[in-house]
Amino acid sequence: MLNQTAPPPPKSAHCLMSDVGISLLNKQHLRLASYAMEFNQLVEELATREMEKKDWKHVDALFSRIMLFVATHFRDEEEMMQEHGFPGFAHHKKLHDKFVDEMARVQSQINNRKIAFTGKMSTLLWDFLYGHINTEDSIYGDFYREKGIDR
Ligand SMILES: [Fe+2]
Ligand SMILES: [Fe+2]
Repeated sequence: MLNQTAPPPPKSAHCLMSDVGISLLNKQHLRLASYAMEFNQLVEELATREMEKKDWKHVDALFSRIMLFVATHFRDEEEMMQEHGFPGFAHHKKLHDKFVDEMARVQSQINNRKIAFTGKMSTLLWDFLYGHINTEDSIYGDFYREKGIDR
């Protein structure tokens, strides 16, 4: 993440995520990217008008779905790191936990209807995912490749 600036989220399923060499995790990254695009489009749409009840429902549903899938993905990555003794595990887990905390904070703002859907908010997921996958996740990708782990 960190020093890399993400380009705007793409409008199609075409993905700018790096290949981490593990097919399950690559697939999960694609799905996360498509959630991030969906979230981006929804927020951009909501930023142009007054929120109605059905809009909140839509946001609630999408955000919960994304949080659940993020948890699954992080768990799968962390399990694999531990299984193969990835040396960057503790650091990587900290980044995951920090992002989950941030998402939980946003979710509670959504639950309390105390959130403004502005342009800035729209790329929250995309910016994290783009940066995280292409820098941090690609580090474990290199580690598995060097070890000859290929799934
Ligand atoms: Fe990942
Ligand atoms: Fe990760």
